[in-house]
Amino acid sequence: MKNKNKIIVANWKMNGSEDLMKEFSQLTCSKHNDIIICPPFTLLDSAKTLLPNFVKIGAQNCGAEDKGAFTGEISASMLREKSVSYVLIGHSERRTLFNETNNIIFKKVEAAIKSELTPIVCIGETLSEKEANKTLQVLDNQINGSVAKIEPHEQVIVAYEPVWAIGTGLTPDENEIKEAHLYIKTKLNQHFNADIPILYGGSANSKNCSQIISIENVGGLLVGGASLKKNDFRAICNC
Ligand code: PGA
Repeated sequence: MKNKNKIIVANWKMNGSEDLMKEFSQLTCSKHNDIIICPPFTLLDSAKTLLPNFVKIGAQNCGAEDKGAFTGEISASMLREKSVSYVLIGHSERRTLFNETNNIIFKKVEAAIKSELTPIVCIGETLSEKEANKTLQVLDNQINGSVAKIEPHEQVIVAYEPVWAIGTGLTPDENEIKEAHLYIKTKLNQHFNADIPILYGGSANSKNCSQIISIENVGGLLVGGASLKKNDFRAICNC
């Protein structure tokens, strides 16, 4: 039941094209890592037909409701029909640019689980919260508001992504990552029946991936920018 493989997730955000998907059809991975690619919604069909079999497919968001008058939204059950097995929920860009609160995030998590998708719930502090020494308090609030409301037997993945590290080229030092992951793990262990994988995200790349992934309690990586270049992403998949 327990997944010991490292989990590498590509978050393409609002990037990518049919051509890029064709390039990624040549992706290889010689390590026993679980690889998940989350392209934009419009590339989900091509992802299914073009990506190699070892790659699992994820979405970057889902609606909180199952169906109805919600113009522009795509529900978890619709994603399930597209062979999606994972969905990113509560990415900091969704929290800040699209005003997603913990309540909305929890509703989306519930919707994902109901449709048999594994939610990858993103949490992390902003720079000002870090500078005010509030990192653990922020993680606590975010976990309490979403992840800790999930039934203890459900499957979920948590991604620790310090907001100030996303897309900036900055990463926390080893001790900071260690401390945050230990805190998250301890908290999740109190609630869930099984070990929940905790990924690190924020400026992970082909150069720092091996070092970050070997830090205690880091179960894998959530990669943005570096996941758009096939060779870089292959190096990360093999780290
Ligand atoms: P980044 O993005 O790797 O470009 O920093 C990570 C993320 O937003 O998930």
